Amino acid sequence: MTNTEMMIYADRRAKVLKALGKSVAVLKGSPLQTRSFDSEYAYRPDSDLYYLTGYAEMGSAMILDPNNGDKPFTLFVLPSDPAKETWTGRRLGVAGSKDPFGADEVYAIDEFEAVVVDRIKHADRVYTNLTHDVEHANKMMALLHQAQGLVARTGEGPKGIESIGVFTHEMRLIKDAHEIELLRKANKISTEAHLKVMAAIQPGMLEYQLQGILEGYCIQQGATAMAYTSIVGTGDNATVLHYVANRKQIKDGDLVLIDAACEYGYYASDITRTYPANGKFTSPQKALYEEVLNCQNAIIERCKPGVTVQSLHQQAVEILVDGMVKIGLLTGKPEDLIESGEYQKYYMHRTGHWMGMDVHDRGDYRKNGEDRILEPGMVFTVEPGLYIPLNSDAPEKFRGIGIRIEDDILITRDGYENLTHTPKSVEDIERLCSKS
Ligand code: GLY
Ligand code: MN
Ligand code: MN
Repeated sequence: MTNTEMMIYADRRAKVLKALGKSVAVLKGSPLQTRSFDSEYAYRPDSDLYYLTGYAEMGSAMILDPNNGDKPFTLFVLPSDPAKETWTGRRLGVAGSKDPFGADEVYAIDEFEAVVVDRIKHADRVYTNLTHDVEHANKMMALLHQAQGLVARTGEGPKGIESIGVFTHEMRLIKDAHEIELLRKANKISTEAHLKVMAAIQPGMLEYQLQGILEGYCIQQGATAMAYTSIVGTGDNATVLHYVANRKQIKDGDLVLIDAACEYGYYASDITRTYPANGKFTSPQKALYEEVLNCQNAIIERCKPGVTVQSLHQQAVEILVDGMVKIGLLTGKPEDLIESGEYQKYYMHRTGHWMGMDVHDRGDYRKNGEDRILEPGMVFTVEPGLYIPLNSDAPEKFRGIGIRIEDDILITRDGYENLTHTPKSVEDIERLCSKS
């Protein structure tokens, strides 16, 4: 870790420590998840723990305790164990984890429970990471109970458990320069990977072959992983929003919707493009594509501090519905189609989400009962789409077509920066996908 990075993490911890007052934060690393029998999924650090420490080894945890004298930051790690390390990889161990991470004290993870109980017994509240790790949440309740028992009848003791997210998710919403660099890098690699797909795509290939090209490139470039399961849907598979089977053969005349992008340094990118397999959009495909693109470009243009994500979504719906009426996909007055929700049969998801360490990044979309206002440093996706199921009552020429176009937008002081430079105009895509 560089000195600058050490300072970034120390600064984040200082902010949380200040906000804690008489409370204590206890964060546990992600557990390994079983994939089959005795094999596990690749380990991925918990976003909040990593955000506050930069510590990426499994089996870790931390305490931030503003009332622990000059030792507010305690780290727990897997202890050195040469026999185990031969099998599962080298560990920094207790001694090797202190100075590089600026920890005030480091314990072996086996001591986690005893130290936590001791630290929280005089705390006001306990803030912890409440994620899919229900075992950890239950454990924290048990430790809270134990701590309360130690100070029974004194009027002291922790009053409850809350999500650390009230601090960290708010902080994570505004990206600093270091985070923006990682987001740019993730986007750059993913764009290059999409360019590889455009150069390779042709009828007869299998969806998973495109997936392999895209993911292979990302890993070769140092991506930590894909940011989410890649979606490669040909033909009407593109109308299934989170289609991840990716096993079908691509036919001449098909569009292929690819929603795939990498994570770099634990920061996500999230990119969708829709490509004509033979290098040329048919005219109904092109009509739909241009409406989605027109909507996406118009919404991106409106991104700036002061507007809300909710208003961007409403405007995207208005633009898309106008477009659907214009090309004859829907009939009626746009305002009625919006009022009745009829448009949702072809556009059923929201236009974007926060993005950062988690691809659907944490952070509230509403604050104090109001829609959240965009601020410099926020990053989110703009991803309108149109999905016409095969069995719909749409004009036949549109049936079975699915289109989504997705870019990642950073809000700047006076507008936005589009972090995604993957080509998306009809002309560029036809030129790059064409094999003739
Ligand atoms: N890749 C999932 C999404 O676009 O939200
Ligand atoms: Mn997305
Ligand atoms: Mn996506």
